[in-house]
Amino acid sequence: MIYRSILLFVAVICMAACQTEKKEINFPKTDLAKAPLIPKPIKTIPTGSAFGLDASTAIYTSTTNPEFEKVGKLLSENIKTKTGLDVAVNASTGEKLERLIYINQSDSIDLESPESYQLYIKKDSILLNAKTAAGAFRGVQTLRQLIPEKSNDTLTDHPLWPIPSGKIMDAPKFGYRGSMLDVARHFFTVEEVKKYIDALAYYKFNTLHLHLSDDQGWRIEIKSWPKLTEVGGVSEVGGGEGGFYTQEQYKDLLAYAAERHITIVPEIDMPGHTNAASLSYPFLHYAGAETPRVRTDMKVGYSSFDAKKDTVYSFLDDVIGEIAAMTPGPYFHIGGDESHVTKKDDYILFVEKVEKIVQKHNKRMIGWDEIAQADIAPSSVVQLWNNAENALNAAENGSKIIISPAKKAYLDMKYDSISEYGLHWAGYIPVDVGYKWNPETYADGLAKENILGIEAPLWSETISNGTELEYLAFPRIIGYAELGWSPSEHLNWDDYKERLAAQVPYLKAMQINYYPSKLVDWKKE
Ligand code: ACM
Repeated sequence: MIYRSILLFVAVICMAACQTEKKEINFPKTDLAKAPLIPKPIKTIPTGSAFGLDASTAIYTSTTNPEFEKVGKLLSENIKTKTGLDVAVNASTGEKLERLIYINQSDSIDLESPESYQLYIKKDSILLNAKTAAGAFRGVQTLRQLIPEKSNDTLTDHPLWPIPSGKIMDAPKFGYRGSMLDVARHFFTVEEVKKYIDALAYYKFNTLHLHLSDDQGWRIEIKSWPKLTEVGGVSEVGGGEGGFYTQEQYKDLLAYAAERHITIVPEIDMPGHTNAASLSYPFLHYAGAETPRVRTDMKVGYSSFDAKKDTVYSFLDDVIGEIAAMTPGPYFHIGGDESHVTKKDDYILFVEKVEKIVQKHNKRMIGWDEIAQADIAPSSVVQLWNNAENALNAAENGSKIIISPAKKAYLDMKYDSISEYGLHWAGYIPVDVGYKWNPETYADGLAKENILGIEAPLWSETISNGTELEYLAFPRIIGYAELGWSPSEHLNWDDYKERLAAQVPYLKAMQINYYPSKLVDWKKE
């Protein structure tokens, strides 16, 4: 295997050097630097020619790491979907290789962060170097974006999809680049979530946070406490039937995300936002909270777990334990927001006790910024959505911060006053406002090194299916992809909006329903 890898590597180098032996294909001059890539790579060096992707192209990968082969297979599937070409992966053929894409595990010192990659695109070879399969996967997304929609139709008997040649050196700004989906206010099916994961992967996100419980519904099967879904899972905002993921379905989602190098962060929101749980098991209910009943309205802040009962913590040990055991990622999100009826002392006691349970199950706790009022461990992570002071206090204590300010990054805020869906309590977020801000400087006094990354949450009070989900998420989520990945000094709205307009063929091909904001000239093909 190792010998084959070395031979192929030599073949790539040789093909690059021996181009004169091949039949020359004359493409019009290309400019890799003008390709509408999102997120924009750190460094792009165009060389003016093109790699002709065609039926005689083959993909080879480092075979010492099976994860690289999986990345190659996903690229092959993507090429099939986009062009119809069948491109074999690691085929042991005696035939002469015409054109080669080689996905190589490299220990180059230039590949610093785990998701960094280098692309060398030449006339007859593409070399993708990455240290990890995650890096290779991110590089493959760049390659996908470089494949034209249409083949070069001057060569009808031999269609070629010209990929502009040159060099790309790339790495993410933040190690955490996420979106959140609220599957509690309205339930979304496994297929709807997978479709969202596909689009997140295409734009190099690496995290999907699932908001799995709230007042209106509980969405994940817990074997030791079955009423959570039997009673708490059958309602949602507006009176629909709700729904929940069985553990098998949740594991299927985790596997689908993992194949795309996306980490799932499960959230069980507590001690507030717990009406559905307390309705299922009344011993959880806190005396100061509203009496549990089926809730289909959009009110917040009226429910709470009882922070003083040992039985509440043994219940949570089971719930967190079952979810943690299924979830390979390092995080467990405990919510912690808007517990308005929980006395402050009780709230603090609760967060500190739950943190210990999360740690016992070998996960790092994440919580909305209110959790910084408790004495949390430096390993716990605070998600800034509302109060920057909370984030600053947590950072001072060593915690990392996820930047998700409602007025900049909430995907459920309306675009404008005529938006069909969404809320506007934090303001309108037109497509340009969603893009023109800097997560590194958003919170005054918060140093860059304390920022884990960025997340764009999508709350679902006003949306109940995939089409409506997409209307709010797209195109804004594409901008958050760039805010999370590209160096801040490269970000420019005028340049970005041209590249955004060029996403239309992808969005159409994937049947993604985007909001056609008038701020962008969508007419381009
Ligand atoms: C939140 O929006 N309540 C985190």
